[in-house]
Amino acid sequence: MMLDSDLIAALRNARHIAVLTGAGVSAESGVPTFRDALTGLWAKYDPMQLATPEAFARDPETVSRWYDERRLNALRRTPNPAHLALARWQRHMIERARTFTLITQNVDRLHQAAGSTDVIEVHGSLIDWRCTRTGRIIECRGPAFPQHPMPSGHGGVLRPNVVWFGEALPEDAASAAQHASGFCDVFISIGTSALVYPAAGFIHFAKSSGAVTVEINRDPTPATEIVDHSMLGLAGEIVPALVEAWEQA
Ligand code: OAD
Repeated sequence: MMLDSDLIAALRNARHIAVLTGAGVSAESGVPTFRDALTGLWAKYDPMQLATPEAFARDPETVSRWYDERRLNALRRTPNPAHLALARWQRHMIERARTFTLITQNVDRLHQAAGSTDVIEVHGSLIDWRCTRTGRIIECRGPAFPQHPMPSGHGGVLRPNVVWFGEALPEDAASAAQHASGFCDVFISIGTSALVYPAAGFIHFAKSSGAVTVEINRDPTPATEIVDHSMLGLAGEIVPALVEAWEQA
């Protein structure tokens, strides 16, 4: 794979790298994306019937069951070479006293399973569920819930601790992602359609803050024309090659 020499030079000199990932990074692990024409979740389901607070209020059983099925699928999946390469890159950047910030829209916790640390989950996680009354968060790595929705044991029921349409990003995650995007020397968007804000806005903010911007994605996106380097292809192939080129630079 031919990699742009300017890109390798920018990566070699970068003291702070920020990465934003989307569902395309987990696709090769068997986690469905959202907008792929045939296999995407939103090609089969109506997000307004499943991924909003109103949907949960209207039909908590259906919403709870659907997210529990996605939770169980995520728990069965393993990190792919893209996840593993990003975790290795972070370790090596830390060894060189540099920073590597991983921001993800994904809710499957595969980055953490690959060894990435301090992952900024701007859309929450399928593995964590929270009590609707107390807000208490419970990590759920067990079998399918026996009941939908599940009583929380604290006077409410459990909802997935993910960001639904119409909800704000978790404040700490949003500010950490914004800071990393504005502070980094190189910002790399991987496996996202760059359609959902505010997450997609981090690409534009990084660019306006002076970072060298990179997109790695199977298909072009609205961000493709604004980034400095666009690499079309599979994350599981491109990301390991990029990390290897950085290590040898
Ligand atoms: P999408 O499904 O919108 O986009 C996935 C992107 O990954 C597409 O642009 C594909 O071309 C690309 N892709 C697919 N397989 C790939 C692969 N193996 N290697 C590289 N790229 C690949 O998913 P997201 O952009 O993550 O939010 O969606 C953003 C948000 O919209 C999600 O976090 C979720 C969704 O609605 C909420 O529900 C709030």
